[in-house]
Amino acid sequence: MIDYDRFAAEYAQHRKVHPEVLKRLYHDSGIDMDSIVLEVGCGTGNYILAIEGLTGSQCWGTDPSDIMLEKARSRSDTVVFQRGLAERLDFPMVFDFVFSVDVIHHLKKPLAYFEEAYRVLKSYGKLCTVTDSEEIIRSREPLAVYFPETIKADLKRYHPISDLREAMETAGFVKLAETTVEFTYLLTDIQAYKDKAFSCLHLISKEAFQRGIAEMEQDLEAGPIQCTPRYLLLWGTKI
Ligand SMILES: C[S@@+](CC[C@H](N)C(=O)[O-])C[C@H]1O[C@@H](n2cnc3c(N)ncnc32)[C@H](O)[C@@H]1O
Repeated sequence: MIDYDRFAAEYAQHRKVHPEVLKRLYHDSGIDMDSIVLEVGCGTGNYILAIEGLTGSQCWGTDPSDIMLEKARSRSDTVVFQRGLAERLDFPMVFDFVFSVDVIHHLKKPLAYFEEAYRVLKSYGKLCTVTDSEEIIRSREPLAVYFPETIKADLKRYHPISDLREAMETAGFVKLAETTVEFTYLLTDIQAYKDKAFSCLHLISKEAFQRGIAEMEQDLEAGPIQCTPRYLLLWGTKI
């Protein structure tokens, strides 16, 4: 279990919105300024703040980490941030759109979250879970390249997409759909990796971590390192 209270500073400093994920959350959710939106496991608020900026929707974020929430609150007077767990959402049925990014692998029982998301969504409301499929975990650039030990560690904690789909259907969601997005950029500074701003780097041995960092440093001397973060977006609708 990753303690986000301990890693909030590194997370806030290094983790940014994936532009293609944001684009899809905005376009495919169908939300506008009259919508009410909830991000579950919002962390420091990167995505929900960006969604509010794009849409003017009434936005809420929830997360169990007080320190992540403290950082989120310091960034907005309008988004409401509330402490809470995905599996026990403390909201009534008011939302048009509920989403999570990089959170579902932290949940032992995704069904409990999907049931809660279903309960707090209005009819025709949408749910989106942004996560990594097995194929994405195996081909992450640069994580799988420099820290191949993260593959085994993450395959253990990430739920197969087929299991997530089954749990969503059990919770009542229909019109399930998947999209994969990617975005390439050149990395010139590896501080985020040195600071372990990616939770899987906390799951590998010290030797594996140090070897990966040394290889990154060596490759950087020859030029920037190509990064292509990819995500799978899993959608469902409450009828
Ligand atoms: C990798 S961070 C993602 C934060 C944010 N969604 C983002 O993409 O910037 C994972 C977040 O999930 C939260 N989390 C962990 N367990 C959770 C749970 N049971 N319910 C809700 N959030 C949880 C952590 O506190 C952390 O803020």
